[in-house]
Amino acid sequence: MRVEGIAKTFGGVQAVSGVDLELTPSTVIGLIGPNGAGKSTVLGMLAGAIRPDRGRILLADRDVSGLPSYRMAQRGVIRTFQTASVFPRLTVLENLLLGFKPWRAERPWPALFASGWRVQEAALVGRAREMLGRVGLSRHENSLASSLSGGERRLLEIGRALLAEPLVLLLDEPMAGVAPHLAEAVASLVDGLVARGTAVVLVEHEMRVIDRLCQSVVVMAGGKVMARGTLDEVRANQQVRRAYLGQ
Ligand SMILES: Nc1ncnc2c1ncn2[C@@H]1O[C@H](COP(=O)(O)OP(=O)(O)OP(=O)(O)O)[C@@H](O)[C@H]1O
Ligand SMILES: [Mg+2]
Repeated sequence: MRVEGIAKTFGGVQAVSGVDLELTPSTVIGLIGPNGAGKSTVLGMLAGAIRPDRGRILLADRDVSGLPSYRMAQRGVIRTFQTASVFPRLTVLENLLLGFKPWRAERPWPALFASGWRVQEAALVGRAREMLGRVGLSRHENSLASSLSGGERRLLEIGRALLAEPLVLLLDEPMAGVAPHLAEAVASLVDGLVARGTAVVLVEHEMRVIDRLCQSVVVMAGGKVMARGTLDEVRANQQVRRAYLGQ
């Protein structure tokens, strides 16, 4: 995915003004910066949830700027939200089953009527149960998602995004409120996707998580990119220290 000069104003607030990004397969970019820097707005634009006022978003050299989020999801761009987003009246297992590759189900009806469907469904349930185990939610399989705590909802949302095997995965503070051993389980699931080619943008305040997962870092402040480089490079940048690390 290539992002050229995207910008967004809300009312009088210039949330993002001219951000360029280049996402490559099997690479995790950390997007960091102080509160209100514009990180979530950038993710929202990449996911098709927020329409950019200016700029272009290219996916495999096709202009996808302004496509709605369900179309972006069909093309393999999957996100998680800063506040975990689950379907409260579905069970935990049902929520996970919704994750499976919407973007590869090009012809769902023939698949539904084919005799292989039940076999396929059983296989999907098996994989969803395996994911439940890995994010520590097995015992909640048949509970309504509304009964989960905030941290558990977040893990459910991440599990759903990971099952989609996205081309581009956009994670907005995925580890907030998640217990350390489960955070490591999530990180290793992300590693697995990255090894299979997924490009990831990770918004995260916790620098240990950035250090653990990211090859490069983009620092935003006031809606603009202030610095790019490795975490060590941006940490050493005086402007970044003033804007971000010093706060
Ligand atoms: N829907 C909206 N309506 C009005 N203003 C908004 C909206 N969304 C974001 N903003 C404003 O745009 C700016 C950037 O917000 P954004 O949520 O992108 O920042 P962020 O870097 O994700 O911050 P945080 O680290 O606190 O999550 C902020 O000033 C915010 O108040
Ligand atoms: Mg945010």
